[in-house]
Amino acid sequence: MNKYYHITTYGCQMNVHESEKIAGILSSLGYQACDDIENADVAVFNTCCIRENAENHAFGNIGMLKKLKARKRDMIIAVGGCLTQQIGKADVLHEKFPFVDVIFGTHNLNKLKEYVLKKQTQKKAVIEILDDDGKVYEECPSLRTSYPNAWVNITYGCNNFCTYCIVPYVRGRERSRRSEDIVNEVRQLIKDGYKEITLLGQNVNSYGNGTQDISFPELLQKIANIEGKFRLRFMTSHPKDFSKELAQVIAANPKICNLVHLPVQSGSDKVLKEMNRKYTSADYLDKVKTLKKYVPNCAITTDLIVGFPNETEEDFQATLNLVNEVGFSSAFSFVYSRREGTVAAKMDGQVSEDVCKRRIMELIALVNSKTREQSATYVGKIIEVLCEDYDVKKGAYCGRDEYGRMAYFKSEKSVLGEFLNVKITAANGISLTGELV
Ligand code: SAH
Ligand code: SF4
Ligand code: F3S
Repeated sequence: MNKYYHITTYGCQMNVHESEKIAGILSSLGYQACDDIENADVAVFNTCCIRENAENHAFGNIGMLKKLKARKRDMIIAVGGCLTQQIGKADVLHEKFPFVDVIFGTHNLNKLKEYVLKKQTQKKAVIEILDDDGKVYEECPSLRTSYPNAWVNITYGCNNFCTYCIVPYVRGRERSRRSEDIVNEVRQLIKDGYKEITLLGQNVNSYGNGTQDISFPELLQKIANIEGKFRLRFMTSHPKDFSKELAQVIAANPKICNLVHLPVQSGSDKVLKEMNRKYTSADYLDKVKTLKKYVPNCAITTDLIVGFPNETEEDFQATLNLVNEVGFSSAFSFVYSRREGTVAAKMDGQVSEDVCKRRIMELIALVNSKTREQSATYVGKIIEVLCEDYDVKKGAYCGRDEYGRMAYFKSEKSVLGEFLNVKITAANGISLTGELV
């Protein structure tokens, strides 16, 4: 009889890719993927805790499984990821949801196979949260679900301790994979037909950090030297470590997309200092200038936070000014969320919900108007997109250009995974509509 698994993923691209590793582990146990959690024999929740709402979302969805589990007693429910790794959270989960069978953290995903097998033979829940042991696990083959795109980890963890952020506490210290392992993985992916590779790390610019023989720009160069037509992207670049060498390597290699995600967080030097970001707004603008000097067309995207403790109207205005000055092609805007255990959680001067709401609306309106302005410049142009999906609702294929802009277009035959030229006929906010040429 067929056995099925279902994975619910919350949070960042790192988590999306880790769910592909979870899928790899479950398929090695003979389980097959299913779309409906009701049919699952193993249901995994891969959680996030970056903001309170990510946590609440997971808690809500796990809670909803109580009835299903009562009907399907043999079903195994497993919860892993960043949420469970927070101190004390595994116990909270176990108490609140005693029907959850397996609880694991971010440092032992590689042991999920063992946990599922153990649970099959015992009644008691299997709960194990390990501390960061500084290791890089190479033995978790992914079951990739996002052809023609493939995600490849280059670093794990983070050493930066931005004062608002929980990631260093739940993902451990920064460690880099060996460059040979990364290059070999990418080479195999290109052989297997993948067309877009995205290198993942909390701060890709500090790759190696004295522990590897090459730097991040050198790693990019090595990967760009691999034969075949493909695109190379990377996420995330911390501005403090963004270098001229990186800009030069982007400029010199057509395979490396002219797009950099460079989270600024705030335009106020006071707030940036309190956030422990280690740059000023002038430093940031300097980095942008260097990038544009070598890669004039480079698109820049960013992350922004409003309502950090003690953020004044003037601080917020500085963020708006910076957004106006840089002209980001798109930006993720967040309301600061207090995370237990971080330095900022202990700061006085939490900004009221009303003020945060008004600021985020104003910021989003500005960011969107910039994005719309840029989208409008596409109309009439021909762009090269990599077709990555078919949108059933729109009845159209979609793909991005190298700057990350999504275009929708019709095609009689399947063009998934192909590079295509599309003439843009209309811009609708962040996305574009066009025709194959
Ligand atoms: N390592 C990356 C990504 C971190 S998480 C980086 O340094 O940019 C992605 C984004 O979530 C961050 O850039 C930040 O804007 C946001 N974020 C992190 N912690 C947050 C918090 N406590 N409240 C609101 N937003 C947060
Ligand atoms: Fe969090 Fe800062 Fe590390 Fe990014 S660089 S993961 S925001 S601590
Ligand atoms: Fe969330 Fe963990 Fe990623 S906290 S954003 S899933 S690193």
